[in-house]
Amino acid sequence: MPSNTNVIVGLQWGDEGKGKITDLLSRNSDYVIRYQGGNNSGHSIHIKNRYFILHLIPSGVIYSNVKCIIGPGVVIDPKSLIHEIQNLKLMGIDPSNVFLSKRAHVIMPYHRLLDKYKEEYLGKNFIGTTRCGIGPAYEDKIGRMGIRIIDFLDPKIFSKKLKNNIIIKNKIFQKIYNKPIISYESIYNEYIEYAKILNHRVIDAVYEIQKALKNKKKILFEGAQATLLDIDYGTYPYVTTSSSTTGGVCIGSGIPPSFLKNFIGVTKSYCTRVGNGPFPTEIIDNELIRDKIRNKGNEYGSTTKRPRRCGWLDLVALKYSCEINGINYLIITKLDVLSEFDYIKVCIQYNINGNQINYFPSNLENKKINCIWKKLNGWKEKISHIREYEKLPNNCKNYINFIECYLKLKIVLLSIGSERNQNIIKDNYLFHKIFSM
Ligand code: IMO
Ligand code: MG
Repeated sequence: MPSNTNVIVGLQWGDEGKGKITDLLSRNSDYVIRYQGGNNSGHSIHIKNRYFILHLIPSGVIYSNVKCIIGPGVVIDPKSLIHEIQNLKLMGIDPSNVFLSKRAHVIMPYHRLLDKYKEEYLGKNFIGTTRCGIGPAYEDKIGRMGIRIIDFLDPKIFSKKLKNNIIIKNKIFQKIYNKPIISYESIYNEYIEYAKILNHRVIDAVYEIQKALKNKKKILFEGAQATLLDIDYGTYPYVTTSSSTTGGVCIGSGIPPSFLKNFIGVTKSYCTRVGNGPFPTEIIDNELIRDKIRNKGNEYGSTTKRPRRCGWLDLVALKYSCEINGINYLIITKLDVLSEFDYIKVCIQYNINGNQINYFPSNLENKKINCIWKKLNGWKEKISHIREYEKLPNNCKNYINFIECYLKLKIVLLSIGSERNQNIIKDNYLFHKIFSM
């Protein structure tokens, strides 16, 4: 009984432009739901010279008729969320349709500290986290020590759970990390105020989603992070701590799998990564090309402002991502960034210790990976003004065809700039299927 549902996921290491695509599809949705991660994401939306960067709030918030739910599988930093809500208000956006699941877990100040201390402790093996406390909050959830939103709203339960946590965390701070301890009172007093501010937004998301399904509402699930950062299927241990693949939608929102229908994968026309970890197609020896991609694509973290590592498109990894997510609609973003290059390279196979492979291995850590490249001709023309596929330069179309043939998947949409209207519909039939659901 698949119904009116669209799922958006990133197919690389994040920052594929999911925010823009969510914004595009939100217009036609009744609900936009986040199902994993937290404020480690940074989804940028560009509307007529105004830029919105959303970290936790679903990108549907720009439309006042869309209900935005921060689902059960998300970890919520109340302080950061309140800040985000206030910022939206300052920009004239009404966030009254933003709701939080009672089951979501709360990120506490000790999670942020633990994130920082662990990264420092790891030294050169650091993960390069956003230091938002995401990992430690999920660790507490799995360790059955977490504080859920529903606990947070009840002063007695909150106090009890917080006390327990602070006793243990202070032991860790002192005995493992040799750091100062934290005070229960000041955290309790600060956070109880946040609970009051957020109280009216808290809902039973499971019930709300069931109601939406019965009423045949259109639901869009907005993924954060991406496939290669998924805790199980990414480049472990250099990953985030949630299930950022399509499988995570059911776990993190409570929707039954049988209701999911369209799986929309978003990839950039090249690759980037922030943080540490394997990146087979990273451009290391040609700073000119790397910096050209970084500057044209404005590849600086929207959460941490770090310069992103840049590389050519990795089709071995992309194929794996499409397969693991069951992608049936593919979107390519930032195609305009690849204009004005003499040539464009794509990775079509890996060579690991002399073995040529065309699948994404379960372990890339400490491995020397040589990419087998296909070198394609570049195109000199700028393309951001083009709106019809046929009008793209031939070499650009060749690039797109090469990707489609390799993946055996049709591309629905090409994004050629950050503005809402800078898109080329490549496959009208498929596009209208997801757009009208
Ligand atoms: P969006 O949703 C890119 C990366 C971090 C680090 C690793 C673990 O904007 O695509 P974490 O703080 O999650 O424990 O860090 O994951 N990372 C992201 N990289 N985009 C993101 O989100 C990311 N969220 C986390 O850089 O390597
Ligand atoms: Mg981002």
